[in-house]
Amino acid sequence: MLSDLCGIIGIVVANKNTQYSPGTMVYRGLLRLEYRGYDSAGVASICDNKLVVLKGKGRIIDLERKLGFSKICGSTVIGHTRWATHGAPSDINAHPHTDCSNRFAVVHNGIIQNYLDLKKSLISKGHVFRSDTDTEVVAHLVEDYYNVLNSVYDSFKQAVKLLEGSYALLLISIHEPDKIFFAKKDSPLIIGLGNGFNVLASDIPALLEYTKRIITVRDGWIGYISGNSVYIEDFDGNIIDWSKYVRIINWSIGDAVKAGYPHYMLKEIHEQPRALKDTFYGVSKDENIARVVDLILDAEKVFITGAGTSFHASYYFALASNILAGVMVYPFIASEFESYAPVVSDRDLLIVVSQSGETMDALKALRAFKERGAKIVAVSNVVDSAIPRESDIAIYTRAGPEIGVAATKTFTTQTLALAWVAVALARSSGRIGEGEVREYFDILGNASKLASETISITEYAAKRLSEWLHRVNSAYYLSRWIGVPVAMEGALKLKEIAYIHAESYPAGESKHGPIALVEEDFPVIFVVPNNEEVEKLLLGNIKEMKARGAVIIGVAPEESSLIDEMDYVFTVPRTHWLLTPITHTPPQQLLAYYTAVRKGYDPDKPRNLAKTVTVE
Ligand code: F6R
Repeated sequence: MLSDLCGIIGIVVANKNTQYSPGTMVYRGLLRLEYRGYDSAGVASICDNKLVVLKGKGRIIDLERKLGFSKICGSTVIGHTRWATHGAPSDINAHPHTDCSNRFAVVHNGIIQNYLDLKKSLISKGHVFRSDTDTEVVAHLVEDYYNVLNSVYDSFKQAVKLLEGSYALLLISIHEPDKIFFAKKDSPLIIGLGNGFNVLASDIPALLEYTKRIITVRDGWIGYISGNSVYIEDFDGNIIDWSKYVRIINWSIGDAVKAGYPHYMLKEIHEQPRALKDTFYGVSKDENIARVVDLILDAEKVFITGAGTSFHASYYFALASNILAGVMVYPFIASEFESYAPVVSDRDLLIVVSQSGETMDALKALRAFKERGAKIVAVSNVVDSAIPRESDIAIYTRAGPEIGVAATKTFTTQTLALAWVAVALARSSGRIGEGEVREYFDILGNASKLASETISITEYAAKRLSEWLHRVNSAYYLSRWIGVPVAMEGALKLKEIAYIHAESYPAGESKHGPIALVEEDFPVIFVVPNNEEVEKLLLGNIKEMKARGAVIIGVAPEESSLIDEMDYVFTVPRTHWLLTPITHTPPQQLLAYYTAVRKGYDPDKPRNLAKTVTVE
């Protein structure tokens, strides 16, 4: 199914002395939600007892110029960035959506699966729909109930009861202009507690400028905020003591701005040394690592899963635990969970890797395994997100917010955290002794420095190579052994932001088919891990490609015997093979970045993609 990957924000101000007007707060929040991907945007508020809606197709900055989002009056404002699914991108289909009598406005992230049935029944009652969206049914449903119940909250609750699917919903009404009503199921939603105002948003960056006191709204919660109060209950009507859920987040607004870089992606590539340092500091002190190791060793079968980049990190861990600890871990792509669930029992373990902690494919895999009694371990970058919440135990990376759609610092931090788990596993399974553990501690503790070196020695080379690479239509990314997931990650970066077809497979497979495509000037990127045996095998693969006229691009450690075989080389620091993702990924990220920029694309907002895929 296609997905609705929108961003929502809502602010109610009780005390007019906030630094910005409510309209400006929502506008600035919308800009911070842009990274999720969108085609249209809108805002609504209540001014002088009337609903005002400004919305349209296009970029937020252009809509601001045209419609003046930030100047909208009123102290209760909701906003939305839309990623079209039900209904083409258009002014009409942009959110907020309203009812027939313009008394209720709704923004929504998710999919209302039964909207066609609901719409049919509402039309038969005389409701007139303006858009093709699933969301509009919510505004009409509330209107319908309000005509009978005369209470906005009761009507909203009744409407939500009828919805099937996923939703983070915000509703405002002229009948209670000082409140925003909300409900959540399977789409992310956060409350930010301010001084004289409260905020609701899809994610932390959108409200980081205003407050650091947040509550992660749980599935099945419904309620409302005003400028100085919060009310929450669960779908069964039990009142939630939300004070127990308040957390102070330590991300700073500096983490969520470009800080002088032309794009978030470049900033985040350069943030890797810091992110790796913080992550290693965090995991090396984390008592959960020992518990995770015990769970792995106690389990009959161990699986690891994730989507996209997080799958590559999962695959890396499976290889690292085989090689280092002799422990078999089965990696699979999260959306394929149904092929694996039938063999799962309560003696098994699933590790779910997800930077956002909200990816629906990963969440569904988690739930399917949990239903069969398997224990669940989460590896995530976002504390309190859905996947860690539903897991038995969680390990966190400390990359900070990642705004660029393409994962960069979250991949290297995931692999570093998982490398430390592999080391702990090797110790507990008796493969290495205490002395070696200390050596590994030093090796992994050096990741930050190595990433910094890699970036500084390869950035210029990446920029230069992009001058040639931007003209090609297709490329192969090959490696062997621990390098395979790293090459897969390189290929994913090139295809998702530079729109160049890039395929990655273990190099030994070339002669079984793919080499048929290779001709004069076909680019083949070889990721060369630090291992003599692997280098020998890769030599043969390089030669077979060269013989067909391929241009050989290498990402290889200093003094690699393969450097002379290559047409173009990114020389990276020579270190332990376990750190291959740390030393070999940044040049590939930079190559994709500069190639995208050379082609005139915005690497932060690749077409057809959104940062967090919260639906199937
Ligand atoms: C690629 C990318 C995606 C994500 C995938 C999973 O650059 O960002 O492939 O890795 O959508 O997202 P998380 O890790 O949030 O579950």
